[in-house]
Amino acid sequence: MQNRPLLISPSILAADFAKLGEEVRAIEAGGADWVHIDVMDGHFVPNISFGFPVMQSLRPHTKLPFDVHLMVAPVDPYLAQFAAAGADIITVHAEAGPHLHRSLQAIRALGKKAGVSLNPGTPVSVLENVIDQLDLILIMTVNPGFGGQSFIPSMLEKIRQARALIGGRAIDLEVDGGVSEKNAGEIHRAGANVLVAGSAIFRGVHAQQIRAIRSAAMITV
Ligand code: DX5
Ligand code: ZN
Repeated sequence: MQNRPLLISPSILAADFAKLGEEVRAIEAGGADWVHIDVMDGHFVPNISFGFPVMQSLRPHTKLPFDVHLMVAPVDPYLAQFAAAGADIITVHAEAGPHLHRSLQAIRALGKKAGVSLNPGTPVSVLENVIDQLDLILIMTVNPGFGGQSFIPSMLEKIRQARALIGGRAIDLEVDGGVSEKNAGEIHRAGANVLVAGSAIFRGVHAQQIRAIRSAAMITV
């Protein structure tokens, strides 16, 4: 069981980009804990989303922490710019380069929380030798690149493995991809404490959807 609070991090990838400031204010008013910001480079993943100027423009619209998920390779040359653009948590992919330990050191040296994301095909064991350099583990439960995909059920076991690796450490365990009120309960019970949701939140009334996911996650069976 995790000892960390349950947090909801709506992914603005599914927001209406024509009114992004309003969307972020709506999720804050609706009870979101973090803002999940998906940066895609068209190289590490087969899609392009947005980057520094969008983050900078959004920063004055909310006090919520920016949970920045970088699907970018190489990523090290850009870490300082993401920190300057308002990131609080910077998550890099383990698959994005050969120097994961160096990337994590660089993020912490910038005074930010350091996260590592794992694609569905990457085992939890790649984190064993960097576990004390981490503030967050992000388990991808879809292949990254697009919102609106279906949760891969075999990832529940991987969430349990990551929770076991974390043990008593102060590390958040985040899950991203296909999360909704339908599976939030089993994901939380498997050991995740941060739930990312894009389409499930932005395709409905944001506050209602955040509440529904949070209460589904809290149900104990
Ligand atoms: C996918 C992104 C996710 C995505 C989740 O590469 O990392 O954060 O926005 O979207 P949903 O919740 O729609 O699966
Ligand atoms: Zn993401």
